[in-house]
Amino acid sequence: MNASELMAVLGPRLSKTKLIVVANREPYIHVRRPQAPRRGLLSWFGNRRKASGVAWQRPASGLVTALDPVMRACGGTWIAHGSGNGDRDVVDEKGRVAVPPDKPLYTLRRVWLTPEEEEGYYYGLSNNALWPLCHIAYARPEFDERDWNQYKRVNERFADTVIDEIGDARAIVFVQDYHFALLPRLVKQARPDTIVCQFWHIPWPNAEAFRICPWGEEVLDGLLGNDLLGFHIQYHCNNFFDTVDAGLEARIDREHFAVIRRGHRTYVKPFPISIDPEPWGRLPKNTTREADVRRTRQRLGLGNERLVFGVDRLDYTKGIPERIKAFERMLEQHPAWRGRVTMLQVGAPSREHLQRYQSISDDVDGAVRMINERHGTEAWTPVIYSRQHHGPEDVASLYRAADVCVVSSLHDGMNLVAKEFIASRPDLRGVLVLSRFTGAARDLREALDVNPFAVDEFACVLHKALSMPDPEQERRMRALRARVEEHTIYDWAAAVIQAAWRMSEAAA
Ligand code: G6P
Repeated sequence: MNASELMAVLGPRLSKTKLIVVANREPYIHVRRPQAPRRGLLSWFGNRRKASGVAWQRPASGLVTALDPVMRACGGTWIAHGSGNGDRDVVDEKGRVAVPPDKPLYTLRRVWLTPEEEEGYYYGLSNNALWPLCHIAYARPEFDERDWNQYKRVNERFADTVIDEIGDARAIVFVQDYHFALLPRLVKQARPDTIVCQFWHIPWPNAEAFRICPWGEEVLDGLLGNDLLGFHIQYHCNNFFDTVDAGLEARIDREHFAVIRRGHRTYVKPFPISIDPEPWGRLPKNTTREADVRRTRQRLGLGNERLVFGVDRLDYTKGIPERIKAFERMLEQHPAWRGRVTMLQVGAPSREHLQRYQSISDDVDGAVRMINERHGTEAWTPVIYSRQHHGPEDVASLYRAADVCVVSSLHDGMNLVAKEFIASRPDLRGVLVLSRFTGAARDLREALDVNPFAVDEFACVLHKALSMPDPEQERRMRALRARVEEHTIYDWAAAVIQAAWRMSEAAA
């Protein structure tokens, strides 16, 4: 399904129902004094300057990549934390601004948070407690009562904003992610006539792991204010049912995939998220694929080396040090690759305020330095590392130039990099190495499966990827592309929103 097909499906009902999306991260950030685009190896094409001196940027966020095209197609309002230092300069008195800034199609309504609220709700409870709790990537969650209180407060503030935004309208509120576990119950209580659904973009852990959360009952109760709760895969839904079963007074109707609590029914279903493949398949104007790849390779200073590519937020769940270690192991086990293959790792700084994120950034710096010191020569650098955010056009050029793309998350709800790489390769070349601990691995079976924790196995898979003959690359890529094309982000949005409609009607 494409954007216009989505509108054809949802349009008639959306003309009578207001679509309100709630997500912590805003799709467009306004900044007063932007960094000038960097010159040299790679530049950030996503950074645009407006005449007023306020520029806008797109954040590095899988959620934004997924939802912005849906909002462009459907219209409506996206409520988010206004986090840019130029955000207040461009909004009306209610915090609203039309976006995309260069071609307005929907409304962004910003909620202002105090530094204490941001610290407790976003850094503390969301990213230092719920994020590690749900990912189980061997990082211990930190639970602090002060963070929990800010989390509750910010959920209330966002709920008030949603209720104000609904006004007298009939609305469907589509909540995103782990930042807002309490909001659905608050909105549903205030406006029972509103359809409330939520998509949880990260994994849901098993009941045993979730038990350590001191506010588990409140989190579950908040989520059960939804009419529909979506996860990427059935496995996470099953974990959720088990968690409710273990921790709450509620009836589970497994036959209909629902939980009934205090007379309210919440359906719990898998909706694997995807991307809009179309822009990824498009070449920049006035160039050919070959010329574009040549230019990218020149920018990287590559000769005849093969290119192994990875692009991630700098997050400890993404398995970046593991990837570099496996690459090094491969060079040791297959010395013939020395001087003949280069790894490019792009790491977008993320949540830098948190100690754990500073450490992962230091770990990656250290791992790159070590491998280059140990194996590099005057003529060859084994790993090129770009520690900055790159816009989608730039990343697309890198996908096109890559021989192998590596996604080695230790645990990931879905992972959209895998799908973007596939969508960027209509030439049917390139090999995807994909961690079996991503939601994407359930669908993308023709990728080379890897366990990122097993360094020797990982090294073998990298060698296999680099040695794969063209016909096999073609066969695998053709099958992968068919999957990404047959289930796009528009199919995802249509499925969630239609299911929410259907289920709230059935419950009425
Ligand atoms: C994950 C989360 C998203 C989030 C993204 C970026 O994909 O599921 O909700 O937007 O990471 O993280 P950030 O904290 O920068 O928004």
